[in-house]
Amino acid sequence: MTSLVIVGTQWGDEGKGKIVDLLASSADAVVRFQGGHNAGHTLVINSKTFKLSLLPSGIVRQKLSIIGNGVVVDPIHLEKEIREITNQGIEVNTSNFVISSDCFLILPIHRYIDSIRENLKQGSKKIGTTGRGIGPAYEDKVSRRGIRFSDFKNLKELEEKFISIYNHHNVWIEKFEGKEISYLDDFEIILKCYQSLSKYIENTWLLLKQLNDKNKKILFEGAQGFYLDLDHGTYPYVTSSNTVPSNASIGSGANPKYLKRILGITKAYTTRVGNGPFPTEESNEIGEKLGKIGNEFGTVTGRKRRCGWLDILMLKKAITVSGINGLVLTKLDVLDSFRDLKICTSYKINNQIVKDYPSNISSNHQVIPIYETLKGWEEKTKGITKFEKLPLNAQNFIKRIETLVSCNIDIISTGPERDENIIINEVFS
Ligand code: GDP
Ligand code: IMO
Ligand code: MG
Repeated sequence: MTSLVIVGTQWGDEGKGKIVDLLASSADAVVRFQGGHNAGHTLVINSKTFKLSLLPSGIVRQKLSIIGNGVVVDPIHLEKEIREITNQGIEVNTSNFVISSDCFLILPIHRYIDSIRENLKQGSKKIGTTGRGIGPAYEDKVSRRGIRFSDFKNLKELEEKFISIYNHHNVWIEKFEGKEISYLDDFEIILKCYQSLSKYIENTWLLLKQLNDKNKKILFEGAQGFYLDLDHGTYPYVTSSNTVPSNASIGSGANPKYLKRILGITKAYTTRVGNGPFPTEESNEIGEKLGKIGNEFGTVTGRKRRCGWLDILMLKKAITVSGINGLVLTKLDVLDSFRDLKICTSYKINNQIVKDYPSNISSNHQVIPIYETLKGWEEKTKGITKFEKLPLNAQNFIKRIETLVSCNIDIISTGPERDENIIINEVFS
């Protein structure tokens, strides 16, 4: 099997969906392995926009699209997403879409808990979750209470599991909300969804083995980004899954030996949605300008993304821990009108210069980013497809990043459209 894992190197929204769509042209299958519909991957093809949250981005090219066991699935949302993409002219059928029978479910009670919990927290204590029930669903999985698609084989036992989950959560829901939630309506709604989704449910580890035996090309589509990883990210301001590429094996059942290449997706600047530390954030007119030109609004919640400069310390740790072999630099065109560009090359923490990402950046105010300033190019790069056609200062910016992180940039994305790219090295041929 030739395989490639895609991972975001920042706090998500690096443009993974666009790159998965680009590379999916040479893939036989695209696999999601973690997260859920907290992801929002935008693809722009001939001015038509496709927004995917749970469906792997390969579905738009009608490639075999697999939701691996590590993904938490909200069946109500999945039905809706299938309906919406079908209305956009993309066929979803049993030959191009498969869900693992080992996926855990996001139930309506998980969504409810996610939102009331956030409401109970004050100000910066809020994580700023997407409110989709991701955390509570993973918690039930880890607590060994969770429900999987395979549980629908025995309805009596399934109902007992529903009762036990609802009883467990109702203890504190009743305390804070003054009322309990009945499992019955939700049980019936989810059962109905299952009936329409059951045709897609399969043993996906076996399917991946069969694809490997046939030497097929598999693209693993990471969601979120390295710094939202539960272990390696800016805890507690993270998501509830491991976003690192090594989880592609656990979250899909693909033997780790199948994972051959890892491609890190990096925005030419940095953004973050939700709370948490962000050393290079520009909460001023620079951040506003990046956000305006980059159209930095969350795909899932519509929230304004916080914006700032590129952070080399973050990138270096993401490259090392993820095992990244090459990078894709996205949204270069967003920097076209800046006279000067900054790249953070070290931090000053308690008067000490730090060159490697520290173990726990818990409060922003202690971290002073130290920048290298490069001349901007103040010319249009949007849509450029050849490196030599880039203004010299843009070429210098790219080469400087490569030098600072000791990793090659294989693709440069110069616009949201599928074909707005500079391919420097073929990474998936
Ligand atoms: P993902 O979550 O990593 O897939 O990223 P999102 O889709 O949430 O956010 C990236 C946004 O930037 C989307 O609206 C893309 O259409 C857009 N985009 C991707 N690459 C480029 C690029 O090179 N230039 C510009 N201007 N927009 C891009
Ligand atoms: P894609 O795949 C950006 C953030 C949320 C919040 C934190 C926890 O589009 O890059 P959660 O709902 O997961 O419990 O929220 O993680 N977050 C994302 N930010 N892009 C994403 O996905 C995200 N998925 C979750 O904003 O800060
Ligand atoms: Mg996104």
